[in-house]
Amino acid sequence: MISKLMYLAFILGGVSCGKSDSKNTPAAAGLSAGFGTNCSSCHGSAATGGSAKSLKSYAGSQDAFTSAIRNGASGMPQTFTTSQYSDADLVADYNFLKSAP
Ligand code: HEC
Repeated sequence: MISKLMYLAFILGGVSCGKSDSKNTPAAAGLSAGFGTNCSSCHGSAATGGSAKSLKSYAGSQDAFTSAIRNGASGMPQTFTTSQYSDADLVADYNFLKSAP
């Protein structure tokens, strides 16, 4: 829990260089670093969409979200293992996106 807070503080402190989307773009505040590394190239650094759809205010279940990422469901053209995009990042990002306006 403490490390999670430190992690958040790190992310919040490190988003000043918001560039356009490309591989390894730092994710916007609230999203995991793993999102920036693995997802922002298609879904945008703030998950508001790019070549792939916006994930903001994601309406699906956590299972559907997980399945898209791990199994390529819902049209995801590539999948990510837990070593690429950890379950912790996945759950944190899901909860953030779910609650994001
Ligand atoms: C190579 C491009 C690409 C990358 C990288 C990518 N996605 Fe996707 N993703 C897509 C496409 C294409 C779809 C299908 C929907 C669409 O056409 O936008 C999709 C669909 C999804 C869906 C299902 C959306 C729904 O409405 O059910 C989720 C959730 C998702 N992506 C999350 C992620 C996450 C999290 C990552 C990083 C771990 C990621 N994606 C990385 C291209 C990508």
